[in-house]
Amino acid sequence: MDSRLLEAARRAMAHAHAPYSSYHVGAAILADDNAVYAGCNVENAAFPEGWCAETSAIGAMVTAGGKKIREIAVMGDGEDLTTPCGGCRQRIAEFAAPDTPIHICGPDGLRHTFKLAELLPASFGKDHLS
Ligand code: THU
Repeated sequence: MDSRLLEAARRAMAHAHAPYSSYHVGAAILADDNAVYAGCNVENAAFPEGWCAETSAIGAMVTAGGKKIREIAVMGDGEDLTTPCGGCRQRIAEFAAPDTPIHICGPDGLRHTFKLAELLPASFGKDHLS
């Protein structure tokens, strides 16, 4: 894992807006431009309007001109593995390859690395539309 990702995810997690779940998440992407883009979860009193840390990080990457996810780290503050939700797996897939590493971290550090294809097998993508 790129050494910058852990600290970027940790810093983003510290800014999570999670007053309803108290589940704080940070995500950090190493993009094709060699820059790191981070984001946190942003909850809302109208619950379905909140979004995940991975979504925030993807938005930051795309806004700055990044095109591909080389690696992504996701950090939650719980005991378990904070694996991306289904919607975020699909959003990651838009900018990643089947073998793109997804690093699941906690405040203690790296806990497990998956490849995208393990988390989103037989996925729907742009090839279906060409
Ligand atoms: N959450 C994320 O930000 N990323 C994940 O990978 C899993 C869940 C957020 C969404 C919500 O704000 C809170 O965690 C509890 O579901």
